[in-house]
Formats: sequence, structure tokens, C-alpha cells
Amino acid sequence: MKINKLEIENIKRIKAVKVEPTANGLTIIGGKNNQGKTSVLDSIAWALGGDRYRPSQAQREGSMIPPNLRVTMDNGLMVERKGKNSDLKVTDPNGKKAGQQLLNEFVEQLALDLPKFMEASSKEKANTLLEVIGVGDRLTQIDKEEQELYNRRLTIGQIADRKEKFAKEQVYYADAPKELVSPMDLIQKQQDILAQNGENQRKRSRLHQLEQDYQKTVEEMEDLLKRQKALESDLMIARTATADLVDRSTKELEESIANIEEINRKVRANLDKDKAEEDAQEYRRQYNELSKQIDDVRKSRTELMDNAALPLTGLSVKDGELIYNGFQWDSMSGSDQLKVATAIVRKLNPKCGFVLLDKLEQMDTDTLNEFGQWLEAEGLQAIATRVSTGGECTIIIEDGYVAGQEHPVMGDKKTEWKAGVF
Ligand SMILES: Nc1ncnc2c1ncn2[C@@H]1O[C@H](COP(=O)(O)OP(=O)(O)OP(=O)(O)O)[C@@H](O)[C@H]1O
Ligand SMILES: [Mg+2]
Repeated sequence: MKINKLEIENIKRIKAVKVEPTANGLTIIGGKNNQGKTSVLDSIAWALGGDRYRPSQAQREGSMIPPNLRVTMDNGLMVERKGKNSDLKVTDPNGKKAGQQLLNEFVEQLALDLPKFMEASSKEKANTLLEVIGVGDRLTQIDKEEQELYNRRLTIGQIADRKEKFAKEQVYYADAPKELVSPMDLIQKQQDILAQNGENQRKRSRLHQLEQDYQKTVEEMEDLLKRQKALESDLMIARTATADLVDRSTKELEESIANIEEINRKVRANLDKDKAEEDAQEYRRQYNELSKQIDDVRKSRTELMDNAALPLTGLSVKDGELIYNGFQWDSMSGSDQLKVATAIVRKLNPKCGFVLLDKLEQMDTDTLNEFGQWLEAEGLQAIATRVSTGGECTIIIEDGYVAGQEHPVMGDKKTEWKAGVF
């Protein structure tokens, strides 16, 4: 929906102004300061935006006649405010009466009040754009996912660093066996030998006993000759059994047993170091896995933005900031800011085919031309004011009138208009 015709009388600085804005592109309302340029835009906002846009002092000072305002839309819809209370009257192309509700369907509030968008925080602007291109929810989700993965990786990375440092500080004995040594085998061997030695001792005692007996028997030889012979035989056997007996030393085993605690201390140290290294490796592996996941999430974010229908080439959102041709809002030129704002606001309500732009002085004529061409290509109508009386202006406002224009006649009550204003 666009504005075909504006007829305004006695609103703020305006005495009588009639404008027929071009349907596509820029209509520039020029003039010197304080002539009533902004009053024209304020009147449009009041007509289409409702009572919240009513100027605090709507009726022109010095006028006996109340404000008279008529906006004709390109489908024939007529929006009027007139009479003592400036009541709204909306008449659709079929002549049926309607109200503010109908206007709200095609009027985008920010199109009436672009500074409101331009003064919003950079985050709010970015969110508006994301809403416009319909990826806001998904992007919030992706950003949240990335943040969570990032935080997790940060923690894991810190643990991995600590574990690696700890593992590095552990001592290592290259000469120690891989597994803990048990003393049981050696103790068993020692006990076997001690038992054997005990047996040997027992045999020696027995020999001694026999020798005593033999001595006694020799003394009693005569009486005990028979017994002597038997004993001699025993004696022979015992001597033979004793002859080759060798006692084994347990010294070596005793040393080994004493050594075991030291060996095991080293083995334990080595096992601890191995475990610490494994631990550190596992955390490093988790860290790398999270890095990969973060890359994936970032990739899906880029894809999401790449596939979204952005309202302006070069416009995007990165890290919650609006970006245009690589620059954030506060680094964009004033004219780029206007272009970005217009493009976004236009997409907020595609039914709203117009936007109001106050104070277009910041654009030089080249930029104005380029902006105008862009608006035309977008099929967008912009009604702008500019402190200038140059050729780029569509009309010039002078003391509340359109310069060079016959004083327009509003409605059908010619006489009332003449009597009241002039
Ligand atoms: N109800 C009113 N009756 C008469 N004059 C008014 C009324 N309301 C505001 N003005 C005057 O209108 C002038 C501003 O009008 P407006 O803002 O439309 O001018 P402008 O051409 O946009 O000026 P600028 O170039 O400075 O932006 C001020 O001098 C202000 O005092
Ligand atoms: Mg102004």
C-alpha cells in the first residue's frame, strides 16, 4: 500500500499543502528550516498511525479552522481527520466506512517512525532483521548451542592442561618392571630352604647321638658285640647320608626381599605416570572432539544465514550484530544506515509500501540518486524531508505552503477554506 495524495491544512507549521508522492522512489520535501517540512511527515504519521502520533499541538497557531487532513492511498482508501475533534474517518474504495484497525493492517509503525528503529540498540536492530528473515528462533538456538559447547570445551581444556602438567611432573623409572612384584615366591623358597636346613640339622644331631651311643657301646663292647655290629651298619649308612650334605645360603633372598619395597615404589610411580598420561590424552581427545562440534555448529549458522532471504545484499547478522558490507551499525555511513533501516522496516510489513524519512541532509546528491534508484528497484515509496531548495527536491515548503503551488482546495467546502485560512 502506498500514498497517492496528501492534503494537509492547519497542522503544526502547515497552512495548506498538497503533495502527490511518486509511487516508486524518493519524494523529497525540501525547504529552509522551520518552514513546515517535518510537519508534513508528522501529519502523515497522525493520519495513518492513530492517536499515539497526534502532535501535542496539532492545530496551527493562528488558525481559526481545525486541522484538516486527507491521505489517499493507491487503492483508493481515504483517510481523513477533520472537525473540532479531528476524528478519524476511513473510507474504503467501495465507500464503506472503516477504522484504525484497517489502517494497522498495512501501516508499519517503524515506517512512520524510522528514527525509533535507528535509535534502537544494535542488538534490537539485529533481532528485528532476524525476525524479518524468519531465522531468529533457529539462530538463537544455534548460538546457545555454540555457547554451551564453547563453555564445555573451555572447562575440558583447562582440565586437560592441568592433567598434562601433572603427568609431566611424575617421576619415571625406566629400569623398573612393568608389574608389581610379589614377595610370596621368594618367601616360599626361603622357607623351603630353611626347612631343608632344619632337616640337615636334625640329621647331624642324629649322627651325634649315634656317635655317643657307639662310644657307649664300645665301652660295653664285650657285652654288646651284636649290638655293636648293628650299630656299625647304621653308622655306615648315616655317614654316607651325611657326607654330601651342603648348606645353602639365604642371603641373596633376604636382600631381594628387602629390595622389593623399593622396586614396588618405582613400579607404582610408573603406573601412576602411565595413568596420568592416559587421563591427559583422554581429555585432549574430548577437547578436540568439542572443537569439531563447535566448527559444525558455526557452519550450520553460516548456512542458515546464507540461505535466508535477506532484505538487502551485503546485510547480515554476526554475533548478534547487524553487519552491512562488513561494518557494524556504528561504523556505517549515515546514508548506509538509512538504507539498511529502510530495507529492514520495509520487510517488517510487506503490505506497507512507504516509509517516512526526516532530515535527509546527510546524503549528498549522488547518494540521494543512488538511494532513489534502490527504492525504485525495491518498489518502495519514500517521503523524505531535506533542508535544501535545490533541484533534487520534489517540492519546496515555504511558510507552510508548497512553493509555486496554487493554494489547494480541500474537500468540497471551498468557501470555508478561504474564509478560515486566507
Ligand atoms: N501548532 C503549531 N502552530 C504553529 N507553529 C508550530 C506549531 N507546532 C510547531 N510549530 C513551529 O513549526 C516550526 C517547525 O516546523 P517543522 O518542524 O515542520 O519545520 P521544518 O521545516 O521541518 O524545520 P527544520 O528544517 O528545522 O527541520 C517551529 O518553528 C515550531 O515552533
Ligand atoms: Mg524538520
